Amino acid sequence: MARPSSGKPQADVSDEQVLGRRQALASQLLLVAGALSPALPAVATEVAESAVGAGQMKTLSDPILAYSFDYPVTTTKGKQLSMLLSRAPEKYSSAAPLTADARQRIVSEIFDFKNFVTASMTVGPASGILKGRSPEEWKPREVALTVLIDKSTARTTAGQRVALNDVQEAHLDARNGLQYWVYEHVSQGSPTITTRSRESYRHSLAVTSWRAGLDGSPYLYTLNLSCPEDLWPELEPLFKRSVEAFTLLPTTRDYIPPDKDPWLFF
Ligand SMILES: *[C@@H]1O[C@H](CO)[C@@H](O)[C@H](O)[C@H]1NC(C)=O
Repeated sequence: MARPSSGKPQADVSDEQVLGRRQALASQLLLVAGALSPALPAVATEVAESAVGAGQMKTLSDPILAYSFDYPVTTTKGKQLSMLLSRAPEKYSSAAPLTADARQRIVSEIFDFKNFVTASMTVGPASGILKGRSPEEWKPREVALTVLIDKSTARTTAGQRVALNDVQEAHLDARNGLQYWVYEHVSQGSPTITTRSRESYRHSLAVTSWRAGLDGSPYLYTLNLSCPEDLWPELEPLFKRSVEAFTLLPTTRDYIPPDKDPWLFF
């Protein structure tokens, strides 16, 4: 479990109607959450909810590393997900290292333990073929492979060892002067971790953007949404909405650059 961070994730609720619905849903979610995993804080209290079309989304924003993303709390068929904060947003220097060389780190994670649906944020310096080149020149596939190779030695909460992922599609989405590289990929999990075969293939949609660290070099910010293959048809449209809503926010006083005080763990 992650330590609670000093900056609080912020909820922004646009109108009262949404608030009423949100509270009703939040209490339902809390009940479900409590029944499944009493030790974890429910995300429902810290986020805003939106319902547009089929499927419901919530928003997590973190002022520490200044990003915000949406994640689904139902599938398009209305199946409820109990998305719990399995790692509370925290600064880079205290986040769990994801790779052997500790470059990529999980800075926040939301997880449905029953359906194995995850939304996770990782941050790390641009490495490999991206290093030393201007982000303007990065190709979508290069970004995808760099992030995936960097993670290939990691184990995730979902439990499987990350095999080299098969990147199915990758493109650049330029929004508000920022670059967001979006890529769909499939990975095979280790059959020793879970015997249920439906979990052995995971389908994921990720989006990576970048922001310069204190030293001016680019740091990659990656949101990864992932589910077992059989849930993909019901989640893909919502994962697409998640990556479209992923935003690097303007930094505020609460912002802690990833390369600030790397030796300080608390
Ligand atoms: C996304 O998550 C899946 C499942 O945990 C993993 O296999 C994949 O490597 C991750 N992708 C990225 C870009 O982090």
